[in-house]
Amino acid sequence: MPGAIHAEGLVKTFGDVRALDGVDLDVPEGTVLGLLGPNGAGKTTAVRILTTLLHPDSGHAEVAGLDVLTQPNEVRRSIGLSGQFAAVDEYLTGRENLRMVARLYQLSAADARRRADELLERFNLAEAADRIAKNYSGGMRRRLDLAAALVVSPPVMFMDEPTTGLDPRNRQALWEVIKELVAGGTTLLLTTQYLEEADHLADSIAVVDHGRIIARGTSDELKRRSGGDVVEVIVRDASRVEETRAVLTRLSDGEAGVDTHTRRLTVPAVGGAKLLVEVIRELDAAGIAIDDIGLRRPTLDDVFISLTGRTAEDPDLAADAAGEAADTHPHGKNAPTAPDGGAAGPAAARASRTTNPEEGSR
Ligand SMILES: Nc1ncnc2c1ncn2[C@@H]1O[C@H](COP(=O)(O)OP(=O)(O)O)[C@@H](O)[C@H]1O
Ligand SMILES: [Mg+2]
Repeated sequence: MPGAIHAEGLVKTFGDVRALDGVDLDVPEGTVLGLLGPNGAGKTTAVRILTTLLHPDSGHAEVAGLDVLTQPNEVRRSIGLSGQFAAVDEYLTGRENLRMVARLYQLSAADARRRADELLERFNLAEAADRIAKNYSGGMRRRLDLAAALVVSPPVMFMDEPTTGLDPRNRQALWEVIKELVAGGTTLLLTTQYLEEADHLADSIAVVDHGRIIARGTSDELKRRSGGDVVEVIVRDASRVEETRAVLTRLSDGEAGVDTHTRRLTVPAVGGAKLLVEVIRELDAAGIAIDDIGLRRPTLDDVFISLTGRTAEDPDLAADAAGEAADTHPHGKNAPTAPDGGAAGPAAARASRTTNPEEGSR
């Protein structure tokens, strides 16, 4: 029996860009797939195809046993979507936004009120509930959007970078909500740039880069496959990072991963402690000062580096997440465009609001 989400050979090009280059996915019912990849990898494109907002050039996909191309209306009735760009109505208050969504889902007025209150509480929005959303910070909008996506619990949920722009406390709160949702039987496809998040929430992970799935498995499987321990070096002087990368790559068999922001380099520790000693000796001989060096167990970050030669987290987005209190707004480089087809169900009605032209400027 196919899973709750099943996709085969999805291809989507935008001009010269092959946003998706033959993607296969299978998400068994009641499980969480983490679609992990850097900015521009094709995550949002995949979500838009699976939620019927975009037609693939080729390929085939089913959600909840329904064909996204031939049964889009039925698919829309079976899914929930929280898009990468908050789909809140700026001129309504938080409370009004949630009640409106609840009414779109045909809840009675009393149930809509009750559900809205519950969710406002859940997402730490109770105090701001009666302010118009226009005055919300980026993190608050994001939380309101997530709350709206959770007004009803559809059998299949899509969340596109749900915690980008959230501070750590709210990220944690959302993780709890997601766990409850899944415990209740919902199937979830979650995209993220945060490896820790995939590690925490996903039953299985598909790593996507340049429109292709380059690895899949559980977090443990991916870590094992990346081949054991890594040597990690933090270089004192940013101007010596490139030289250090060359040394690491020469001494080890693997490609060195670099995070220029933190001056941190990692390389698979083929040969273990022996490599560590060689690295220390060579860096010393080259007069490259280091702040820290060590041998450690791989994280999913290391897996990503060993697969792609770079880190998955976009420093700008990470800075946004850290700056929620300062009211920074998450910004995306790829503003969503209009859906191919008309919106039908409430999920699509909400989803299509992500096409608000103002979204692109945030
Ligand atoms: N509507 C569009 N028009 C042109 N290019 C697009 C459009 N949507 C996405 N792309 C391009 O497709 C690639 C994948 O984008 P996207 O799926 O948004 O990646 P992700 O969500 O992983 O950051 C990127 O190179 C992006 O610029
Ligand atoms: Mg995206």
